[in-house]
Amino acid sequence: MIAFLLAFLAALLCESVHSEGSSVAWCYNDPACNFTTWPELAPHHCNGSSQSPINIVTAQVQENPNLTQFKLTGFDANTTFTSITNSGVSVVVNLDDKIMSVQGGDLPGLYVSKNFHLHWGSGSSLPGSEHTVNGKQYAMELHIVNVHSKYNGSVSVALAAHDSSALAVLGFFIEGTDEANKTKGWDVLTSFLTKIPNKNDTTVDIMNQITMNSLLEGVDKTKYYRYQGSLTTPDCNEAVIWTVFKEPIKVSNNLINRFSTTVFTKTTSAPVLIFNNFRGVQPLNGRVVTSQVEQTGSSAAPLSPTTSISSFTLLLLLFSLCCL
Ligand SMILES: *[C@@H]1O[C@H](CO)[C@@H](O)[C@H](O)[C@H]1NC(C)=O
Ligand SMILES: *[C@@H]1O[C@H](CO)[C@@H](O)[C@H](O)[C@H]1NC(C)=O
Ligand SMILES: *[C@@H]1O[C@H](CO)[C@@H](O)[C@H](O)[C@H]1NC(C)=O
Ligand SMILES: *[C@@H]1O[C@H](CO)[C@@H](O)[C@H](O)[C@H]1NC(C)=O
Ligand SMILES: *[C@@H]1O[C@H](CO)[C@@H](O)[C@H](O)[C@H]1NC(C)=O
Ligand SMILES: *[C@@H]1O[C@H](CO)[C@@H](O)[C@H](O)[C@H]1NC(C)=O
Ligand SMILES: *[C@@H]1O[C@H](CO)[C@@H](O)[C@H](O)[C@H]1NC(C)=O
Ligand SMILES: [Zn+2]
Repeated sequence: MIAFLLAFLAALLCESVHSEGSSVAWCYNDPACNFTTWPELAPHHCNGSSQSPINIVTAQVQENPNLTQFKLTGFDANTTFTSITNSGVSVVVNLDDKIMSVQGGDLPGLYVSKNFHLHWGSGSSLPGSEHTVNGKQYAMELHIVNVHSKYNGSVSVALAAHDSSALAVLGFFIEGTDEANKTKGWDVLTSFLTKIPNKNDTTVDIMNQITMNSLLEGVDKTKYYRYQGSLTTPDCNEAVIWTVFKEPIKVSNNLINRFSTTVFTKTTSAPVLIFNNFRGVQPLNGRVVTSQVEQTGSSAAPLSPTTSISSFTLLLLLFSLCCL
């Protein structure tokens, strides 16, 4: 709490950050450069009409039978994580794009995986995701950034192409749980945060330690929302096919808390913690969110995992009783 207050006060004292991929100074927590100012700070393209993130209103989601399973390559390999970096605005895990890729799921081709990074709030009890579902904001959000293979693994070349399907980002919600050390993968991942306290700090010690799938445990990857949008940081290029998975990843609250208490926007000697590093939701402007054909309505209601598992089991049971 004290750390949070310190961070907040320091943020008020004109903290701003640069980020690679953008020519302008932008930030999350200073009124002079927070996300409400990005449309003026970075008019190309943060003032556009197909921006991300969005609030997904489940009652308006349209069915699309083309949204089939993904073919996820390298998600079970422990050699895909090449380094973990403090970017000053997030924690970024760089991926080996020769091992990891995404196709299927109605994506127009093969996309190679470049990195994943995270968005969080101010601890597990406060919201920090970018997308919201019927107004519900989760504790954190994980983004796996993939670039179309025709761009040869270069995100900057892809963004320069003004191609609305240049990138395919996979978004996963993260929800806190009181079960201590719920996920081993997240314990290992977050244990590297103390090695990258300062902006630009990087360590390759994360190599051969964890797999992508160990961080995505419990998520049914056949259930997702799809829409056309943008990067959620300046320059907000409208170049992203978004996939937002419906089921959240469950991570122990104590591990979620590590993000907002361990890594700094600059250095530990200018101690401003990275927190609330999410952009607020943007207008849909007529865009349509689609999803698989499935049963009605209440799927987005925040069910506990045990409830959803047992109701799923019950449905299966009923189904097999009726049909077998
Ligand atoms: C962002 O800054 C504006 C002033 O430019 C302020 O009104 C707003 O509350 C701030 N929002 C956040 C989320 O910090
Ligand atoms: C965004 O700003 C740019 C540069 O000022 C301008 O050319 C463009 O028309 C603006 N777009 C919208 C949607 O307002
Ligand atoms: C599904 O894919 C087919 C073939 O590409 C296309 O004609 C159709 O419009 C798609 N359906 C939707 C709902 O996008
Ligand atoms: C793509 O990469 C290959 C191998 O590294 C290289 O030979 C080729 O020139 C690159 N193409 C483009 C368009 O950058
Ligand atoms: C949970 O993780 C913390 C930090 O890694 C460790 O100190 C603690 O012993 C773990 N607790 C259990 C029950 O495994
Ligand atoms: C990585 O995966 C390989 C093959 O599955 C396994 O033999 C090896 O023990 C793993 N390494 C670590 C550090 O877990
Ligand atoms: C981080 O790296 C960037 C680009 O390499 C550099 O401009 C910046 O000064 C560095 N920041 C810190 C805090 O070292
Ligand atoms: Zn992101």
